[in-house]
Amino acid sequence: MKILYKKKFPTGKRTVYFLSVPIFTYSQKKMVNKFDFIGKARQLGVRIGEDCQFTDMPNFGSEPIFIEIGNHVLLSFGICFVTHDSSTYACHSFFNDPKKVHNKLGKIKVGNDVFIGCNTTILPGCTIGNKCVVGACSLVTKDIPDGEVWAGNPAHFITTTEKLAKKKEQNSQTEFQQKLFQEQAAFKQQLLEKELKKSQ
Ligand SMILES: CC(C)(COP(=O)(O)OP(=O)(O)OC[C@H]1O[C@@H](n2cnc3c(N)ncnc32)[C@H](O)[C@@H]1OP(=O)(O)O)[C@@H](O)C(=O)NCCC(=O)NCCS
Repeated sequence: MKILYKKKFPTGKRTVYFLSVPIFTYSQKKMVNKFDFIGKARQLGVRIGEDCQFTDMPNFGSEPIFIEIGNHVLLSFGICFVTHDSSTYACHSFFNDPKKVHNKLGKIKVGNDVFIGCNTTILPGCTIGNKCVVGACSLVTKDIPDGEVWAGNPAHFITTTEKLAKKKEQNSQTEFQQKLFQEQAAFKQQLLEKELKKSQ
């Protein structure tokens, strides 16, 4: 006889029973919510299009409502959106009217079909166009036109997205790389299963 078992309900809730007595109920949704970075970002006020992926929770700073992200955008980990500049905090003694606020505030817009590499920071007022790639660890200080690959600190033009696509197509994954990807996918699956077990 099973003395400890779980019963699944159509609502997605699970109840743990001990000797047929319900001990506790938990929501499967809780687990899903943990990784719902887009849902969380929308709750903060960020406008996000369709078919986007966030590798982890970006830092949307103090004005998430100033941030707009288009369709089919992949944000890697460690992305930081900065929508204001507080450097004037150090300058007030030089201002004619020290009480007047001179802070820069600016909206950030990311177009459609964009990839932003890990640990990138985007400064106030910048627009990243459609079909753009931003390389890892970049600091975006100005607008990036449609169809371009930018990287570096400060980010600068590297190539066009079309040329990058052709290059990637030519140097398609080797067998060794494919194996690495498969290993990583299997490891991720294990981690997820562990997390699920922990939350039960
Ligand atoms: C920008 C990027 C897409 C370019 O790819 P690529 O064309 O295959 O890269 P290459 O190694 O051929 O580099 C091309 C040039 O750009 C420079 N470069 C590439 N990535 C750069 C980066 N992140 N910052 C600064 N310069 C960079 C290289 O130094 C090289 O310059 P050179 O021609 O003067 O030697 C890639 O380097 C990158 O940053 N990808 C994102 C990685 C990432 O964030 N992964 C997380 C996944 S979720």
